[in-house]
Formats: sequence, C-alpha cells, structure tokens
Amino acid sequence: MRNNIGVMGHPINHSMSPVFQQAALDYLGNKNIFEKWDVHPEKLEEKIKSFRKESFIASCVTLPHKQNIIPLIDELSDSAKAIGAVNWIYNKNNKLLGDNTDSSGFIRSLTEKYNFLPKDKTALVFGAGGASRAIIYGLIKSNVKKIILCNRNYDKANVISRELSTNKVKIEPILFNRDSLANYAPYTDIIINTTSLGMAGGPAPTTTPISSELISSNTFGYDIVYSPLITPFIKEFEKSGAEYGTGLSMLLYQGVEGIEKALNTKAPINVMQKALDALS
Ligand code: ATR
Repeated sequence: MRNNIGVMGHPINHSMSPVFQQAALDYLGNKNIFEKWDVHPEKLEEKIKSFRKESFIASCVTLPHKQNIIPLIDELSDSAKAIGAVNWIYNKNNKLLGDNTDSSGFIRSLTEKYNFLPKDKTALVFGAGGASRAIIYGLIKSNVKKIILCNRNYDKANVISRELSTNKVKIEPILFNRDSLANYAPYTDIIINTTSLGMAGGPAPTTTPISSELISSNTFGYDIVYSPLITPFIKEFEKSGAEYGTGLSMLLYQGVEGIEKALNTKAPINVMQKALDALS
C-alpha cells in the first residue's frame, strides 16, 4: 500500500530519512515502504488531505513545511506548540497530530549517544531559527541551569528569550561578537551551533561562529550541521582538545523518536544507525 508513511519536503531528494527508516520498518517486520514525497508548498493542503484515511501512519515533515502545516492538521503536541514547528505528523484515531521530535531527538542524542547530561549545566546556543527553538525547549525540559543565546540578529534572540524562558531557566541573549563571547564561552558546559555557518552549500560554508581560543577543553561542542560531518565549528573543538557531537545523531534520534511514536514500539536504533553509517 502506498502513501502511508514517509517524509515530505521541497526539495526532498537529499533526505536520508527513507534509508534509516526503511531499515527500521524491515527490522520490525512492517510491510510499508517509507516513501519520499516532494511536495511543493502550493500542493501542501492537497497532500495533507490525502493522509486522511485509516491506513495512513505518519509523515516526517521537513523544510519548507514545518510551520505552514500547522493550520492544516488537527492537534499539536506540547513541544510542537511551544516550538511553533512540526517535524512529524501521526495518525492518532483518524486525527492528524503534529509533533516536534527535533527537541527530544537532540536531547536523546546528547544523553544516549554522547553521555552528556544537560541537568544543571550552562549552555551557549548560536542561532535563533526553528532549530534553535527546538534545542532550547529540549534543554529547558532537561533542567539546564542557564542558557546563553547568541545570534547575529539580537532582536530575534530577545524574542526567543521572552517566549521560552521559564521561572527556573533564564535565556540570556548576548551580542554576536568576540568581546561578548569572551565573557561567556570559556565558562559554559556545552556550546551548540544551530546556525547555517559551516554548512556545505550554505551561505558561509567555511565559517565558524566561535574559534578555539574561546573554547575550554572541558566544554562539549555540538553542531547540528551534518554536511560536512566535521564542520569548521567542530574543528575548533578538536583544536581545543574538547569533546563534541555531530549533527547526524540528531537527525537519527529525531527519526527514532518519530518512528517510535508513529508505531507505538521501540525503534531498533543500532539497525538505523548502521543504515545511516552506510550512507556516509
Ligand atoms: P532554521 O530554522 O533551520 O534554524 P533559519 O531560521 O534560517 O534556520 O536560521 C538560520 C540561523 O543561522 C539564524 O540564526 C541566522 O542568524 P540571523 O537570525 O541573524 O539571520 C544564522 N545565520 C545564517 N547566516 C549567518 C551568518 N553569515 N552569520 C551569522 N549567523 C548566520
């Protein structure tokens, strides 16, 4: 049967999700094919209508639909509501539920793969787009002590601070320059890049938001950019002798969380990891 489970976006050709999700379906004995749907924004409504059938299971949602899909579906999880973006929809009793597993996937990748526990830690986050919101939400849910938010456009960081800070966890926006970073970066437990700096094919493929002099060897680095796997940002952590995590694991774990919720079962993480490794 077709049109039951897959990933949609535009463009979608580059998506690696079908490879590791198909490995999961096969391992679990699920006969569905995890499809790749190229959905032009003008066709989004039509595509969502086609999901309104009993056999539909779930769809992973990627750019540019993560926000536009919200008015077209029936319910939102708490994370999707707070973050304002959906990266999975599931068929729950013939209603389309939008969820955000970028946040929980990020936290699972940190804790399960890299053994970094965010509780009571200080985090410095670069970037103030959708990925930043998901990561900040995940960190707050994991009881971090404090979040420093550094973005080129300071006003955007301020908006996130207003919207996502809680009584327990304050988000402090700071200016994106060396002097300001020098006051915070060397003293944080984890630094996360959510900007497109360093991304192959992006606007600044050779740039890093921070360089090694400001990085302590005790600070953990994490880049959500996974192409290339070792980004300019990660190279600065290597230079400082610090440990780091790479963005492919966030991609994997958002998918692990998604397929687990879609099928109500544990995902075969090792099988999915192997399928992803075979690609790179
Ligand atoms: P996403 O939703 O995937 O997180 P986005 O909304 O396009 O992506 O956000 C991209 C992030 O990269 C933003 O924080 C952007 O900074 P601005 O808010 O100031 O635009 C950041 N970014 C992109 N190019 C940058 C550059 N050359 N220097 C600094 N930050 C940059």
